[in-house]
Amino acid sequence: MKIAMIASEALPLCKTGGLADVIWSLSHELSKMGHEACIVLPFYKIIKDRPAMALRRLGSYEVRLSWRKQNADIFLWEYLGVKFYLIGNDYYFNRENLYGYDDDGERFAFFALSVQRLFPFLNLPVDVIHVHDWQAGMVPVLIKEQSLGEEVYQNTRFVMTLHNEAFKGYLDRYFLNHFFGLDDRIYESGAVRFDDMVSTLKSGIVYSDKVVAVSPSHAKELLSPGDPMRLDGVLRLRDRDFCGIVNGVDVEEFDPMNDPFLPKNYGVTSFVSGKEACRKKLCFDYELENDDAPIFGLVSRLTFQKGIDLALKVGESILRHGGKFIVLGSGEEELQRQAQRLRDAYPTRCAIYIGYNNQLAHDIYAASDFFLMPSLFEPCGIGQMIAQRYGSLPIVRAVGGLKDTVVGFNGKNADVATGFSFVDYDLGALKATVEKALTVFADGKTMRKLIHNAMKTDHSWRKSAQAYLKLY
Ligand code: GLC
Repeated sequence: MKIAMIASEALPLCKTGGLADVIWSLSHELSKMGHEACIVLPFYKIIKDRPAMALRRLGSYEVRLSWRKQNADIFLWEYLGVKFYLIGNDYYFNRENLYGYDDDGERFAFFALSVQRLFPFLNLPVDVIHVHDWQAGMVPVLIKEQSLGEEVYQNTRFVMTLHNEAFKGYLDRYFLNHFFGLDDRIYESGAVRFDDMVSTLKSGIVYSDKVVAVSPSHAKELLSPGDPMRLDGVLRLRDRDFCGIVNGVDVEEFDPMNDPFLPKNYGVTSFVSGKEACRKKLCFDYELENDDAPIFGLVSRLTFQKGIDLALKVGESILRHGGKFIVLGSGEEELQRQAQRLRDAYPTRCAIYIGYNNQLAHDIYAASDFFLMPSLFEPCGIGQMIAQRYGSLPIVRAVGGLKDTVVGFNGKNADVATGFSFVDYDLGALKATVEKALTVFADGKTMRKLIHNAMKTDHSWRKSAQAYLKLY
């Protein structure tokens, strides 16, 4: 089967969040299963600046956004059996960051229009065009409204996966015609309209043949009346074509047994000494006291979605009671400042790294005893699955994918529990859960049992990729 992933980020080329991991891992897994998966991305500056990329220029074509004419320069890069088609245009994509510009709407309108022309240009018939999030939402609309006559699209079906429904991809109504040359009637009919704007996210949901949330629990949440994402109405209309498929993690990259970043590798039978060595190294590197106190780790974008405000507050109480707290991530300035204040108050027990650092991420997963992820909402979440593989017990809010991937300890289920969970988004509930975790920590036997369960849980992509194949 020929499958094309259309997305705004993918490892190993560009990443701001979990979307990048998913696009790469799913494509790689599908290709290992014998399918032809390719990834289509904007050719960002950060990709251009990569040293020694063996790129092939395939040619270029003109894309019209109403009176504007822009060139799409197409490059091909291959990596472990997966083809990457990169859509180049210096005006739109040769910028420092992936997003965050006033004209993001126009940049991704150009991207969607370029994708529409890409497959005819390559003369590549595709079975499935799989679009992700608002940046790619207009692709099914454009092809279904304007390009169904093209030979290459004769057998094409469209799947849309929703990774972050908080971003609706709003555009002024005027741009429907102005950018895309689409008829106003699809606005009038409501098909692409949301909040009296065009929403590229909603458009993708309406026009795709199948729609997927990244976990079954999150799919249920999205369908509930009153859900804060406010997509329940449109998703109920697509009820029969909507489901949840939980993401996996790259079990080769995140394998404590073969992880080149760790000072000592370990598995389910050797985690006590392995994690001890990792703990010593982390404490040494970040000048933290080298004692036996429990370490709480956090690796995340620092945004309200991830419950960072709660995590930092509970972090303060952990530190006050002699625990250690290590944070890696970047995001909202105020949260970054709060994190730094914690470190200033507890310099020998708390480490904060603002930014991204792969080595440190691996060190935190391996060295920590607990992994905090009290998200406000979480379509799937990846950190909690990686943490389990490294024997760091996740402390999560039972929401979305966190609910589907962590079995919370309730005092009686030590045979199956892989972490801790709580329901209400409030500091009291999180504090009580941290206390429960500390009680388990003090009782070494239960702690070891939970670590064992967590490390043995299968979070590989195989099952998820099979579920996607079935859907395709
Ligand atoms: C988004 C979601 C996260 C999910 C990821 C990949 O970043 O917030 O929950 O794991 O996409 O699907």
